[in-house]
Amino acid sequence: EALEKGGYEHFMLKEIYEQPRSIYDCFRGRLNVEEGWVGLGGIKDYERKLVNANRIIMVACGTSWHAAQVGEYLIEDLARIPVEVEYASEFRYRNPIINENDVVIAISQSGETADTLAAIGLAKSKGATILGICNVVGSSISRVTDAGSYTHAGPEIGVASTKAFTAQVTVLTLMALSIARKKGTLGESRLRALLGDLEAIPAKVEKVLEKSNIVEEVAAVYKNAANALYLGRGNCFPVALEGALKLKEISYIHAEGYPAAEMKHGPIALIDEEMPVIVLATKGTSYEKVVSNIQEVKARKGKIIAIITEGDVQVKELADHYIEIPDTDENLVPLLATIPLQLFSYYVAVMRGCNVDQPRNLAKSVTVE
Ligand code: G6P
Repeated sequence: EALEKGGYEHFMLKEIYEQPRSIYDCFRGRLNVEEGWVGLGGIKDYERKLVNANRIIMVACGTSWHAAQVGEYLIEDLARIPVEVEYASEFRYRNPIINENDVVIAISQSGETADTLAAIGLAKSKGATILGICNVVGSSISRVTDAGSYTHAGPEIGVASTKAFTAQVTVLTLMALSIARKKGTLGESRLRALLGDLEAIPAKVEKVLEKSNIVEEVAAVYKNAANALYLGRGNCFPVALEGALKLKEISYIHAEGYPAAEMKHGPIALIDEEMPVIVLATKGTSYEKVVSNIQEVKARKGKIIAIITEGDVQVKELADHYIEIPDTDENLVPLLATIPLQLFSYYVAVMRGCNVDQPRNLAKSVTVE
């Protein structure tokens, strides 16, 4: 086992560090910046169907559901197709409205999640086209879908999903861009710029990983917290959800992810000097709004751990701690902003003596309903 961990103390840490490579492996051969080309071979025959879809419905569970939430922002913003994201377990027990012009995308690392499989069965019976995004080659979901794209992240052993998540987001980015290219919703130069930015992500993830000592120091300060709040807006809201899930899964600290603006409708009541608030505060459309949310937390003596864009000064001054990530296109921020949150939960869990790779009560793949 020590050999399999490749010198890392835990599989989770190894898998976090593999992300520059796994993201690269995911887009390799699927884009060409010079030619302004992007495509997913596995779903080539269904491209028309996607381009003409009335609606895309994504079904998933757990971390894969968070990737789907990021996918919603990507596909709506870049390809202008309405997207709905559903928990597979809720979707399957409703009487969902689906028809032949809808495309259902099932997202699953393992490709074995019982609820996701059942949701696919239901959508199929209503005549929808079903595409899959799976990591495990030959898995049940990859076999029952009409077509799909693999994430190529390699085996993920740690129960808490890390590299599979960033690979899912990468596939969803490629999918959004390839639909956008076909639909003509993005200009040629914007498309090329985005492809170039995606190609630059692995090197930028590497840079974020170099900050691990800072994340470890922050983790040491908050390792005994009873609660944690994660805030984000736009495509960083699902990043906040994923950060909170990671922390609760492996460190057993109660954590909640919230859209930053919703804080005033409830979670703000919880804020005191004991409460760490992790804020996704990178440069972009809602930056100024997030700055006001940070001020609201500070006014109530909450502790701010901010994820900021390199070179930012405003949030740096307000925050108790900050972790810088390289600048990139706003659509790609989740791929970078997720990394420090993974590291934070990892270090907190290790410091609390938790079994990081096999947290209590959790399974890598949930094949029961
Ligand atoms: C379990 C795992 C999670 C995973 C979820 C969905 O809860 O512990 O890490 O996100 O199942 O699994 P899937 O294989 O469908 O992505």
